[in-house]
Amino acid sequence: MMGDYNAVATAGELKPQQMKRIVVDGRRLLLCNSQGELYCVDEMCSHEDYSLYLGCIKDGRIKCSLHGSYFDLATGNPSCEPAVEPIRTYPVKIEAGRVWVKT
Ligand code: FES
Repeated sequence: MMGDYNAVATAGELKPQQMKRIVVDGRRLLLCNSQGELYCVDEMCSHEDYSLYLGCIKDGRIKCSLHGSYFDLATGNPSCEPAVEPIRTYPVKIEAGRVWVKT
């Protein structure tokens, strides 16, 4: 723990387009690497109770594999239906060789 931030991975642990399931403060989240940038979002889709971990990362977005909605990893906003609600996003930083997430 560093301030409000929790260590969730080591720096360099995730390769581009990889994601990791993490639990922070009881929340199920995904740490995502899109083209070398790290993002943290809710694990579950906003459309139905379905894990985005089963989807894939593409061009700064994560795809839900159940009905095909994409969510922007930076804002959480869906870019196509059927999802209309955003997913939550969380601040990420890299410090002291670790990846930190704030909830
Ligand atoms: S459950 Fe994700 S788009 Fe329907």
